[in-house]
Amino acid sequence: MGQLRSVIAGVGAYLPPGVMTNDDLAKIVDTSDEWIVERTGIRQRHRADPGVATSDLAVEAANKALAAAGKTAADVDLIIVATTTPDLTFPATAAIVQRKLGAPIGIAFDVQAVCSGFVYALSVADGFMAAGRSQCALVIGAEEMTKLMDWSDRGTCVLFGDGAGAVVLVPQEGEGTTDDAGLLGFALRCDGTKQDLLYVDGGPSTDGQVGKLRMQGNQVFRHAVVNIAEAVTAAAADAKVAVSDVDWFIPHQANLRILNGVANRLGIDEAKVVTTVDRHANTSAASIPLALAEAVEDGRIQRGQLLLLEAMGGGLTWGACVIRY
Ligand code: ACO
Repeated sequence: MGQLRSVIAGVGAYLPPGVMTNDDLAKIVDTSDEWIVERTGIRQRHRADPGVATSDLAVEAANKALAAAGKTAADVDLIIVATTTPDLTFPATAAIVQRKLGAPIGIAFDVQAVCSGFVYALSVADGFMAAGRSQCALVIGAEEMTKLMDWSDRGTCVLFGDGAGAVVLVPQEGEGTTDDAGLLGFALRCDGTKQDLLYVDGGPSTDGQVGKLRMQGNQVFRHAVVNIAEAVTAAAADAKVAVSDVDWFIPHQANLRILNGVANRLGIDEAKVVTTVDRHANTSAASIPLALAEAVEDGRIQRGQLLLLEAMGGGLTWGACVIRY
């Protein structure tokens, strides 16, 4: 039976030019390149300048994705921005992106699921496409995590970076089989009882402040591999594919030890895992589309291949998504 699929027509990414190395951080907090590399795999992160907003990074990534898809802003009828670092409390960063792109009046809103935001946003966009309510969607993950840091907390400030990635989705009639191009399956999860492990300690309705990121890193780590592995298995089952059928795993880039731990638990060849955490650090909702764009642009990911995206972050939220590119 035929089925309307959401197909990735183009991808794009943008990193702000400023780079902060581990040695730069060692001048601010009591840490070392050796400790950060050994515990996380991170060697550097990009950092947006003051005055450059999340929407600015999002627009750069969106324009590249539109060009790759052979589309223009005039074609876009749906914009979803996954972000935990919006320009303003409101309007949504997606509305600001629409204005800056010069896209026509349409649907635009943000999704807030922290590091899992891009996977959540893809699922939401897929719903619009499947219902015939969008002919051209921009799904963007964009973050300026460095602006949420407590720069005196060495347990968090060494882990995060800034950047944006975007995909253009278009609807395409499929056969309803696993050979179809497009989004094939999802698993999305949230366990709100684990809030204290990872959160930002401010907000408009509590203290009226933006707040700073707080994390019990070793506790988050304990949940990460188990939760992500469960979601990967569930998303593969939802898509009716085997994990071993997947050509490329594009994980949220939080920590190299988590990436390798998930691969080992599921028997995935580490050569199939796209890794950018060494250069980008953790860019929250932006990390998956940044990694996806890199592997598409350098030719590793080819049309027709099966991709698996996965993430875990604040909430706790976690999830995975299977896509035939
Ligand atoms: N440099 C040097 N020492 C440090 C640093 C640092 N940057 N940070 C912490 N330490 C010290 C600690 O103070 C502690 O010292 P102590 O033993 O004297 O008390 C020691 O290192 C061990 O600390 P742990 O927190 O137990 O170290 P761990 O091996 O767990 O590594 C890390 C910490 C890297 C944060 C790891 O736990 C991790 O990656 N956790 C998961 C993070 C994650 O996936 N987050 C989810 C996504 S983020 C989001 O959703 C926004």
